[in-house]
Amino acid sequence: MIKIAIIGGTGVYDPNILKNIRTEELATPYGSVRFNAGVYAGKEVAFLPRHGSKHSIPPHLINYRANIWALKKLGVEHIIATTAVGSLNIAMKPGDFVLVDQFLDFTKGRVSTFYEGGERGVVHVDLTAPYCPVLRNTVSKAAGILDLSIHEHGVYVCTEGPRFETPAEIKMFARLGGDLVGMTNVPEAVLAREAEICYSTVSMVTNYAAGISEQALTHGEVLETMAANAEHIKKLIMKSIEL
Ligand code: HPA
Repeated sequence: MIKIAIIGGTGVYDPNILKNIRTEELATPYGSVRFNAGVYAGKEVAFLPRHGSKHSIPPHLINYRANIWALKKLGVEHIIATTAVGSLNIAMKPGDFVLVDQFLDFTKGRVSTFYEGGERGVVHVDLTAPYCPVLRNTVSKAAGILDLSIHEHGVYVCTEGPRFETPAEIKMFARLGGDLVGMTNVPEAVLAREAEICYSTVSMVTNYAAGISEQALTHGEVLETMAANAEHIKKLIMKSIEL
C-alpha cells in the first residue's frame, strides 16, 4: 500500500526525491492514470505531476477525478499538493510559500464530485476545514525545522483558466477576501475530501496577480520563479514526509 502522495503542480515535475522509482498506470472509472512510485525515508510514496510530466495538460482539462480515484485505490491517506499561484496580497510576495486554509471557487466547467446520484447517491461533504489540519500542521513544522518562512493562512481563489485574470477580476477577488489565485485546487481538494484523503496544499507565489503587477503576466515568469525556488519546495516536501 502507498499511503503518501505528492501531487506536483507547475514547476514540480521531478520525482527524483524518491528511490527505486517506477512508473505505473492504474485504471479508474474515469480513465487511466500514470504516476511514479518509490521510497523516501522508508515510506512508499506516489508522485503525480498534475499537468503531466511535460506540462501538457491545462488546468481545465486535468482529469481530477481519475487522479484522486487512482490515489485512493493505491491506499493513499495523505496528499501534499503544490500549486503555483498569483498573489493579490502584497504581504505574500513572489517566492513566498503559503499553507492555504480556505478557498473561493470560481471554476465554471468542471465536474467537482464523485457523487452524481444513481448508485453512488447524493452526498454533501463538509468543507468547514477544506484542507487537512493535521497535514497542514506537519508541513508547518517541516518549514520551521528548515527555517523556511511560510504564511500559515491564505484564501485560494480558483479560476477556470487557462487564461490569466483581468485586473477587474483580481480587484473583485481581493474584496471578497482572496489572497491568492490559481487554477487547480478546485476540484482537487473537494474530491480528496469526498475520497476521505487528508489533503493539504503548499502554494508558491510566482507573481503578483494581474493589475497588482504592472507588467503583463506570462507563463514564463511563473516558471522562472518556480525554478528559482524548486529546491526549497522539494526540501519542504521531503521534510514533511520524514515527519
Ligand atoms: N493567476 C492564475 N493562476 C496562476 C497565476 C495567476 O496570476 N500565477 C500562477 N498561477
